[in-house]
Amino acid sequence: MGFGGGRAPVEPILSDRRPPPFLSHQGISLYCEDLLRIDLPPESVDLIVTSPPYGVDVQYATVDDGIPYDRYLDFSRRWLARCLRFLRSDGRFCLNLPLDKNKGGQASVYSDVLQIAKELGWRYFATVVWNEQNVSRRTAWGSWKSASAPYVIAPVEMIVLLYKGTWEKRSKGTSDISRDEFIAWTNGVWTFGGETRAVGHPAPFPVELPRRCLKLFSYVGETVLDPFAGSGSTLLACLETGRQGIGVEVSEEYCQLIERRLRAAGPASRVGTAPKVGRLARAPRTRAPPRTRRISEGEAPEELVRR
Ligand SMILES: C[S@@+](CC[C@H](N)C(=O)[O-])C[C@H]1O[C@@H](n2cnc3c(N)ncnc32)[C@H](O)[C@@H]1O
Repeated sequence: MGFGGGRAPVEPILSDRRPPPFLSHQGISLYCEDLLRIDLPPESVDLIVTSPPYGVDVQYATVDDGIPYDRYLDFSRRWLARCLRFLRSDGRFCLNLPLDKNKGGQASVYSDVLQIAKELGWRYFATVVWNEQNVSRRTAWGSWKSASAPYVIAPVEMIVLLYKGTWEKRSKGTSDISRDEFIAWTNGVWTFGGETRAVGHPAPFPVELPRRCLKLFSYVGETVLDPFAGSGSTLLACLETGRQGIGVEVSEEYCQLIERRLRAAGPASRVGTAPKVGRLARAPRTRAPPRTRRISEGEAPEELVRR
């Protein structure tokens, strides 16, 4: 399956026919669906944090990431338009993208996707450079020690900050960012390592990335969407910082991974609320009326592990 099904029009699942979430847990809802089919209520999200597929032939469980670049940009246009609808007028978007790609031809994914976003009505605010320090990628030199055709690769990724209507929030809320975090994170070069694949996903970002975005750009209790939830790092950061989290992930394998990670994090990791014994409620993946079942029913209570 190519993500978004290539150029074919996709019939959206309208809000009143939205399937039940794959799981809901302590303010976190996960939909195991194609983003291009699921419909969330318009203007219902305060912050979007995501890294979409990069179109660099990552071996995902369900989708083909190796599609031609023009189809990749077409897919980007379609999901960016969709997410714009879901966001409130003073909502923000932290979009993690590669700077360049060299597989399947050189391209600046960052500038091409940003250009499309602006054409769709997204407004540009700034870019954070994530200094991932991933030196392991420095294996392709092009022409070694020769001016013939050397490759240049920056071991960084971009976090593009976009917004819908106004960058300044219309209402007051509770911020949970410390003085030192604020000073450090408003410097637009963030230096920390990436997440390893050992987490069970081929392209995860570390929880540190959404944690910073959430604390810098949203109030406690606000609604955060990750439309490409992957291994669930954004949802884990929501759980930890007391935001309402919505995740969409097309692969059932990764939805199960997210469930395991949320279960391991447990309600004890939630900041600002008294720890309660939490249960993951999971609905069957079906278009039929929801028959929500408690996955922990009949199971011995699991020991909750603080991450
Ligand atoms: C770069 S990964 C996201 C990784 C995530 N940030 C994390 O920390 O694990 C992109 C994810 O998008 C999912 N995906 C691709 N096409 C999708 C679609 N049309 N709808 C929903 N999810 C999709 C893939 O299965 C993959 O898990």
